[in-house]
Amino acid sequence: MQQEALRSAHESMGIATQSWSPLGQGSALSDPVILEIARKHGRAAAQVIIRWHMELGLIAIPKSITPSRIRENFNVFDFSLETSDLAAIVALNSGKRLGPDPSTFA
Ligand SMILES: NC(=O)c1ccc[n+]([C@@H]2O[C@H](COP(=O)([O-])OP(=O)(O)OC[C@H]3O[C@@H](n4cnc5c(N)ncnc54)[C@H](OP(=O)(O)O)[C@@H]3O)[C@@H](O)[C@H]2O)c1
Repeated sequence: MQQEALRSAHESMGIATQSWSPLGQGSALSDPVILEIARKHGRAAAQVIIRWHMELGLIAIPKSITPSRIRENFNVFDFSLETSDLAAIVALNSGKRLGPDPSTFA
């Protein structure tokens, strides 16, 4: 759900993109590719996904009601993803969305 065309349009107009539901409402956390990247870096899946947003210059505000997860989600400033990690995550794009589509929203 990476919204590449929308991000490109934003970039051309100097608009910062905020990622709504940056963890896919939790659905992206069990993806095998994400889990493998997390294992390689010794990190949690959520941390890998948050780093992906950060490294693309996206504004990500993950939600959690769980104190340990909130701490985990903040602890993302001391590692970075490799080029191959970023490419592997880009390849996961499904073109789907969680929320309504503005072009068909009534
Ligand atoms: N303006 C809008 O219309 C709009 C629309 C959608 C989203 N948003 C914004 O997007 C942000 C979050 O969206 P969201 O709540 O839909 O989805 P999300 O942040 O993608 O995912 C939240 C889910 O991930 C779980 N989670 C969070 N951190 C985790 C971790 N480290 N390990 C495992 N699970 C973890 C949470 O569980 P627990 O809470 O149980 O820990 C919760 O189930 C908010 O800032 C929201 O306001 C805005």
